[in-house]
Amino acid sequence: MKYTVVLTAEYPSVARDLLAGEFDVIEHPTEVERSEDDLITLLDEADAAITLLSDPLTRRVLEASPNLRMIANYAVGYNNVDVEAARELGIRVTNTPGVLTEATAELTMTLLLAVLRRVVEGDAEVRSTGRCIWEPLHLLGESAFGKTLGIVGLGRIGSAVAERARAFGMNVIGVRRGEPLDEVLATADILSIHVPLTAETRHLIDRNALQKMKRGAYLVNTARGPIVDENALCDALESGQLRGAGLDVYEHEPGVNPRLLAMRNVVLLPHVGSATEETRGAMARIAATDVARFLRGQPPLHVVV
Ligand code: GLV
Ligand code: GLV
Repeated sequence: MKYTVVLTAEYPSVARDLLAGEFDVIEHPTEVERSEDDLITLLDEADAAITLLSDPLTRRVLEASPNLRMIANYAVGYNNVDVEAARELGIRVTNTPGVLTEATAELTMTLLLAVLRRVVEGDAEVRSTGRCIWEPLHLLGESAFGKTLGIVGLGRIGSAVAERARAFGMNVIGVRRGEPLDEVLATADILSIHVPLTAETRHLIDRNALQKMKRGAYLVNTARGPIVDENALCDALESGQLRGAGLDVYEHEPGVNPRLLAMRNVVLLPHVGSATEETRGAMARIAATDVARFLRGQPPLHVVV
């Protein structure tokens, strides 16, 4: 009897190609607002599954999925999985670390520069006027050169951002996960978040932290939305406490705070940190390879629990 692998979305085809033949692969259309009940129905037959960051793999879902023995989460982050419940139930969980470090660091620099140099405003102006006018005082932003970048979280991605920022002539000050933030908050001209979302990092950047930042500083977040108190961030942006923000992630995805949508001093992207052909393909290969290894009785290579 073949094992059944459920793909909860359309992943790059390499995932299916690596699994088909040896296993029964059931592929579902991508759905980013899947409820627990929908997911339970989907996982009914699954021995293993490749899952999306937006799939709520709660204790209830895991307990209701009788055959499920392995989840390959198609992301480096796994805050959508109740890891403790998985451990207790003996369900193996893997992720896709490493292959999205460069892509996410590049997107962080993209947001940083786009906000500082008002790239989106400039693009909108050229499209709406059909003209390109050079004026001494028009669309002035700020230079990254000589500014201090505060990096919260010095894992793979945070370190890759530091390296890129130094190449732009920025001073970099980093703080490791769990260390006090006071100095980095007080020093950074731009603060960039690179910690995973956990109970400890939820609202790490709260109203109080935003108040401790330099007036007129910027925030960049390519990590997880709930690490920042989004309402407090909107207040800080509206009051001028922060001059701008570059966001790839939001507190209530797929929803985006309407206050952010109304601001011109923020650049908003739809969670595309890992969205390169190279990276998404590599993530699919890693997830499928670990599923195949696990079902063949070999140890997976990227184990969370
Ligand atoms: C994306 O956000 C990831 O964790 O891979
Ligand atoms: C991601 O790969 C990280 O740990 O920073």
